[in-house]
Amino acid sequence: MDAFVIQGGTRLRGRLRVHGAKNAALPLMAATLLADQPVVLHDVPDLADLRNMGQLLGTLGCQVQRDPDQGLRLSVCDQTKSEAHYDIVRTMRASICVLGPLLARRGKARVSMPGGCDIGDRPVDLHLRGLRALGADIRLEQGYVTAQASQLRGGRVFLGGPFGSTALGTANVMSAATLAKGQTIIDSAACEPEIADLACLLNKMGAKIQGAGTPRIVIDGVDQLGGAEHTVIPDRIEAGTYIMAAAITNGDIILENCPIDSLAAVMDRLFEVGVELEPMADCDAGNDGMRQTVHVASTRRLEPVQVVTQPHPGFPTDLQAQMMALLCLADGNSIITEKIFPDRFRHVAELLRMGANLVRSGSTVLIGGTRHLSGAPVMANDLRASASLVMAGMAAKGVTIVNRVYHLDRGYERMEVSLQKLGAQIERVDRSPV
Ligand code: EPU
Repeated sequence: MDAFVIQGGTRLRGRLRVHGAKNAALPLMAATLLADQPVVLHDVPDLADLRNMGQLLGTLGCQVQRDPDQGLRLSVCDQTKSEAHYDIVRTMRASICVLGPLLARRGKARVSMPGGCDIGDRPVDLHLRGLRALGADIRLEQGYVTAQASQLRGGRVFLGGPFGSTALGTANVMSAATLAKGQTIIDSAACEPEIADLACLLNKMGAKIQGAGTPRIVIDGVDQLGGAEHTVIPDRIEAGTYIMAAAITNGDIILENCPIDSLAAVMDRLFEVGVELEPMADCDAGNDGMRQTVHVASTRRLEPVQVVTQPHPGFPTDLQAQMMALLCLADGNSIITEKIFPDRFRHVAELLRMGANLVRSGSTVLIGGTRHLSGAPVMANDLRASASLVMAGMAAKGVTIVNRVYHLDRGYERMEVSLQKLGAQIERVDRSPV
């Protein structure tokens, strides 16, 4: 099992390009099950989760070919299969994304229930509510969701739940509704940029979707969808992670392909912390707010802040752990409240081992800023928690070993190579947890 060995204390400096977004690419890939012709996706990062999605699509009759220059080409050649088996679904919760497309295009789907994970229970009741509103007959049998509908029909559905809307639930219902008879209105839809990106691809394929990226999405069903070519949006969470990594090391970096338009809440908090973030003129990137070049600098003591995670456009839960690592070194007391996944705190115990001053009460953590963290062997069973430990390790005194980095490999393309480019002393080694 691979681990990262990090010698702390180096300030990050240099230039890095943000990859395409994992959480956009997953539902985009699943949506290609709706298409009658090949779909080509560009800037799909090379990540374990996306390879798993490719494998799952393979079992569902979709050919997936990756070409370094031509992108990822997905073409359905067999429409008879409709089962997403437990063996794949248990490795990747986002497998649930195939439910809506399979049901809409093939009239039936049998998808293993994803179950919980290290960040919480993660139910799928809202996905099922949405698909039922389109006329699907849905049952839970032997750990599988079995869904059937010879022809979906448009309907009205409210996707708000106790923790806000649902990103993948919105993706599932919106995708299914593209081939339903008549109009579908989704209220309390997730507003994440990944949903707007999915609608963009579906519209290129011939769908009629309006309002994606807002709480109300209106979909007019069409008879069939064709092929399309699309470039995945840059990963706002990867961008946010490298911005915070620069900040925690008092670094000075330039980030290309940075989606600042979808990072407003993060930039707001980082401004209060004292991190300088300056968009730069950049002709190649076309200067659009989803693909900006940004200068990030942090040269002084960090200020404490209060952070509450919320659905987009609020502060993303996927950057909560990294923000906590950063605030461990602020000059005073900060508070983080997690409102999306109230138990998403696997990093707290590990940061404590590095000398952080943290007190958790329910879904809130009080962070007493300290001058130094101390390197230690650590491990977290969650992707973003692991990212926060890498950040803490780069700022800590001495050596940190982050074990089980396969969690990081699910969401960051060769993170150690990106950080090495910025001067970090980080190495991937093959070793068992110590
Ligand atoms: N929820 C329900 N019922 C549902 C679905 C969700 O109650 O049917 C609850 C969840 O338990 C949670 C909240 O609603 O409290 C939001 O969950 P959501 O469905 O939006 O999460 P998701 O779509 O399964 C995606 C990302 C996560 C990210 C969340 C929240 C992908 C593949 N995953 O998950 O990303 O944390 O949205 O923004 O897009 C990550 O990348 O590290 C990651 C976990």
